[in-house]
Amino acid sequence: MILYFSGTGNSLAIARNIAQSTNDRVMTLTEAVQQDLTAEKRIGLVYPSYDFNMPPAVRLLLPQLKISADAYVFVIISCGAQAGNCIWTAKRLLRKQGVRLAYSHKVRMPDNSAIAFGRNPNNQIWKFERFAFRLERIIADVKVERHELHFNGWSFLGWLMGQTFLEKGMIRTLGPKVNTDKCIGCGICEKVCPINNIVVNEKADIGKHCTLCFGCVHFCPQQAITTNGREALKERQYHHPEITLKDMLQK
Ligand SMILES: Cc1cc2nc3c(=O)[nH]c(=O)nc-3n(C[C@H](O)[C@H](O)[C@H](O)COP(=O)(O)O)c2cc1C
Ligand code: SF4
Ligand code: SF4
Repeated sequence: MILYFSGTGNSLAIARNIAQSTNDRVMTLTEAVQQDLTAEKRIGLVYPSYDFNMPPAVRLLLPQLKISADAYVFVIISCGAQAGNCIWTAKRLLRKQGVRLAYSHKVRMPDNSAIAFGRNPNNQIWKFERFAFRLERIIADVKVERHELHFNGWSFLGWLMGQTFLEKGMIRTLGPKVNTDKCIGCGICEKVCPINNIVVNEKADIGKHCTLCFGCVHFCPQQAITTNGREALKERQYHHPEITLKDMLQK
C-alpha cells in the first residue's frame, strides 16, 4: 500500500509509478488514517518537502496511522531540491509507534512554490527526465525491500524553519487568499484541498488550517487565489502532467 499527500500531483505521480511496478494500491494519507492497515506487509509514504520540513498536515496524520511494526516501511520525498528534515522527522515519528523506517529517498520535481515568487514551475519540467533514473532506482530497491536510508539526516535549516513562529509566519505570508472579485464559486478548490480547509458557498472561504500545499492556487480555473500577494497567472499554474484534476479529487 502506498500512501501519499499531494497538492499538485508530483507526490501522487511518484506513488502511482511505484505502485504500478510493485502491484501496490495507492491511497491518500487522509483516507489511510481512517483504516486499519496492520495487515499490510509493505507501506510506502510519499509526500512533499515544505520549507525543508515535513508538511504540517503530514506531521499530524502520520502518527495516526495504524500499521504493523513488522511492515516494510519506506518514505519517498518529492521536492524541488531539498528534503530537509522530512525523512528525519518520519523516522522519529515512526519510531514512536514502534515502527522502523527501512528505506528512504527523494525525487526532484518542479517546485510548485515558485509561483509564490512570480516564477514559473512549468520551467522546471526538465527535472522529469533528469531525475527519472532516481525513480527507477527507488522502484528496483522497493521491489526487493532493500534496507537503506538516504537523505535521512537532521537539517539545521529544517529545524529552524520548523520553529513555530517561522512556520506560522510562512503560512501568514504564503497562505492563499481569495480574490472575491474573480471567484465564481465553482467549488474546485474545496474539492482539491487535501485537508478540507476550504468551504465554498457563493465564494471560496479558506480556513485557518492551511498546510501550504498550493493545490488551490494551482487548480483554480479563474486564477482567483493569490499567494504571497501575487496573482497566480494561468501560465504559471502547474500540476504534474500525468495527474489530472479528476485524480486530485479522488481523496
Ligand atoms: C510552501 C512550499 C514550500 C516548499 N518548500 C520546499 C523546500 O523547502 N525544498 C524543496 O526542495 N521543495 C520545496 N517545495 C516544493 C515541493 O516540495 C515540490 O514542488 C513537491 O514536488 C510538490 O509536491 P506535490 O505536487 O505532490 O504537492 C515547497 C513547496 C511549497 C508549496
Ligand atoms: S476554484 Fe477558484 S473560482 Fe472556484 S471556488 Fe475556488 S477560488 Fe473560486
Ligand atoms: S487551503 Fe489551499 S494551500 Fe492550504 S491546504 Fe488547502 S488547498 Fe492547500
